[in-house]
Amino acid sequence: MPSIDPQGRAIISFAGVSKIFPARNDSAEVAAVDNIDLEVPEGAIVGVIGKSGAGKSTLIRLINGLEQPTSGHVHVDGLDIGAMDERSLRHARRSIGMIFQHFNLLSSRTAFDNIALPLEIAGVGRRDIPGIVGPLLDMVGLADKRDRYPAELSGGQKQRVGIARALATKPKVLLSDEATSALDPETTSQILSLLKQINAELNLTILFITHEMSVVKKLADRVAVMEGGRIVEQGTTYEIFANPHHETTKRFVGEVTGGNVPEWLQAKLQPAYAPGMQAVIRIAFTGADADEPVLSRLTRAYNVDFNIMHGQIEYVAGQPFGTLITSVAADTQLLERLIAELTSTRNHVEHLGYVA
Ligand SMILES: Nc1ncnc2c1ncn2[C@@H]1O[C@H](COP(=O)(O)OP(=O)(O)O)[C@@H](O)[C@H]1O
Ligand SMILES: [Mg+2]
Repeated sequence: MPSIDPQGRAIISFAGVSKIFPARNDSAEVAAVDNIDLEVPEGAIVGVIGKSGAGKSTLIRLINGLEQPTSGHVHVDGLDIGAMDERSLRHARRSIGMIFQHFNLLSSRTAFDNIALPLEIAGVGRRDIPGIVGPLLDMVGLADKRDRYPAELSGGQKQRVGIARALATKPKVLLSDEATSALDPETTSQILSLLKQINAELNLTILFITHEMSVVKKLADRVAVMEGGRIVEQGTTYEIFANPHHETTKRFVGEVTGGNVPEWLQAKLQPAYAPGMQAVIRIAFTGADADEPVLSRLTRAYNVDFNIMHGQIEYVAGQPFGTLITSVAADTQLLERLIAELTSTRNHVEHLGYVA
């Protein structure tokens, strides 16, 4: 009996995919993508996050057939991308839209003509083009900029043209390689809202890669964390924020939730206790527990004071995620009791060290 997948069918799937770049004179062999399994459910927005060199761009280039896997299979909408000849690949790419960090617009063409380009290449008749490009310009909010050249547009407007161009051939999936990395925070936020709106209105599947957790937080339903060509952790965005396991994931999540220890504190932390020192603990509050007054309860119960050293609350999928780094004057025995109490309320607690 076929199993029922609650997330719907995978429109993009990686099964045991590796991409090895052979050694050259000046460099050793690189496994840019190393035995990856990944499924992108139809209609979802999936983020892949990783540092520079993690293999993210190679992963995306395997989806649109710009790279062939060394082993394994990449399927897009049922087609084995690595097994296709150039001709069928060109055809398949019409259902795979792509947007880029530096927009990749033709400077000699207006907004309208940039969006029309993939239609011309696909052989759409001249007369039919305005009826397709016009609504796309409306959708991305650029109806009044149709005759402007890229040099006359802001970064955000250029990316809107890029998005409209990617949608021109009515793709089934949209790939984004760091599409907001060259934009300021406010423009980034507007572009992410536009992508979310397009996902909802067209049920368009989006796979994006980024090195910024704030982008994942705003945009993704699911996230995969990539390092050294491998996916080291994946799950729903909420799960990953609530309960990151891998060190790399923790660091990325910490960027957004304030869980990373600030440098000034890192410099003061000592590994061993000496009389008069305070213990430093990090408490991560998640979901329903984030607003529980646990510290004031412990203050009363154990007659101790918590000094707040660093803290932040963020919302992911409408749920609060808080981090508090506090110091408390407690000997080893009391510290163990406090940590046990804090942990029992489902908070995640970590003893970071001591400060004088
Ligand atoms: N065409 C190539 N030839 C050789 N090595 C490559 C090639 N493309 C990427 N790499 C290497 O593969 C690794 C992953 O690169 P990339 O996919 O661009 O990572 P990211 O996009 O995460 O920064 C890097 O070590 C990079 O140097
Ligand atoms: Mg890259």
